Amino acid sequence: MPTRTREIRLKKRPSGLPSEDDFELAETTLDDPGQGEILVRNLWMSVDPYMRGRMEDRKSYITPFQVGAPLEGSAVGVIERSAAPHLGEGDLVTHFLGWREHALVPAADATRIDGDVVSPRTYLGPLGVPGLTAYAGLTRIGRPIAGETVFVSAGSGAVGSMVCQIAKIMGCRVVAAAGSDDKVTWLRDALGVDHAINYRATDDFAAALADACPDGLDVYFDNVGGEQLDAALAAANDSARFALCGMIGQYNAKRPPPGPSNIFQVVSKRLKLQGFIVIDHQDLMSEFTDTMSRWIADGRIQWRESVVEGLEAAPGAFIGLFSGENFGKMLVELGDTSADQRRA
Ligand SMILES: NC(=O)c1ccc[n+]([C@@H]2O[C@H](COP(=O)([O-])OP(=O)(O)OC[C@H]3O[C@@H](n4cnc5c(N)ncnc54)[C@H](OP(=O)(O)O)[C@@H]3O)[C@@H](O)[C@H]2O)c1
Repeated sequence: MPTRTREIRLKKRPSGLPSEDDFELAETTLDDPGQGEILVRNLWMSVDPYMRGRMEDRKSYITPFQVGAPLEGSAVGVIERSAAPHLGEGDLVTHFLGWREHALVPAADATRIDGDVVSPRTYLGPLGVPGLTAYAGLTRIGRPIAGETVFVSAGSGAVGSMVCQIAKIMGCRVVAAAGSDDKVTWLRDALGVDHAINYRATDDFAAALADACPDGLDVYFDNVGGEQLDAALAAANDSARFALCGMIGQYNAKRPPPGPSNIFQVVSKRLKLQGFIVIDHQDLMSEFTDTMSRWIADGRIQWRESVVEGLEAAPGAFIGLFSGENFGKMLVELGDTSADQRRA
């Protein structure tokens, strides 16, 4: 029996900061699952900064969203009907057809999850892409050693908050930046970072970072680019490593912003700057899942979530990422998650 459902489509490509007018809520009908497919009722979906890049029609590491087509992204849901041998009705899965209330998913693109130990939405945050991004970027690209100083921008966000805590577990001194006093307080008091800076309340970020790093910084985990990257170049020690994860500060720029004015520091200090994309580090998934699950069970990892309700709220939640409306992982709750709430 076909399923009537709703999805969010890209109505037009945004110019600068996206607006609600760039999105369209539409009804659609899904067929029954064909051989090897599952019909999933989505419970939670993720909105992520990288989706802004997919809204542009340009070549990148991932295909652009198409105007008129539904958007995509990480989601967690429950299987309503299955035509796949190894997945059954009632199983919880993660997959990449978010931005819709139901999804017809090739079983090969879905991963069964255990919703008994942690709430299923944790697979969109600490145990999902943000957690793996932090783990891969820090352990493979930044490679700090105990006693070194690690600076993390967007430190209270989904990725940044994981980086801060993994770096602490690795024995590092951690300095983080975030955009409000509440976020800075949480970073210090709950996550135990050694120094946190509210970059919005600072006239001279480079001076604030230099003060926070009296012995210089050895690793910078960059989530924002711009003046914080400039400041990190200035504060870096010789041979520091820069794990370039993202540059949210320029995702809405209408023309490319100027590069760091002090880029020569890379030469004079023999710095290593390396960008990375999490999909290239899927081979770490099993190690990461085991390690992060143990840290969570041992109470060594804290996190926060900002939750909005209903598919119609998803565009606003996405747009809010660019002004720091989220505190921790931004999530959209799509359906009856009452069983999930009991595990929260
Ligand atoms: N390379 C990869 O594979 C990969 C994978 C996932 C994520 N990423 C990147 O990682 C970064 C963080 O992603 P996330 O999912 O964890 O998002 P997030 O940090 O949970 O949310 C974005 C945060 O960025 C901060 N922000 C927004 N505009 C800013 C600006 N102009 N200047 C400084 N800070 C700004 C805001 O926090 P404040 O209130 O603190 O400003 C906001 O809460 C993004 O750059 C994203 O593209 C990369």
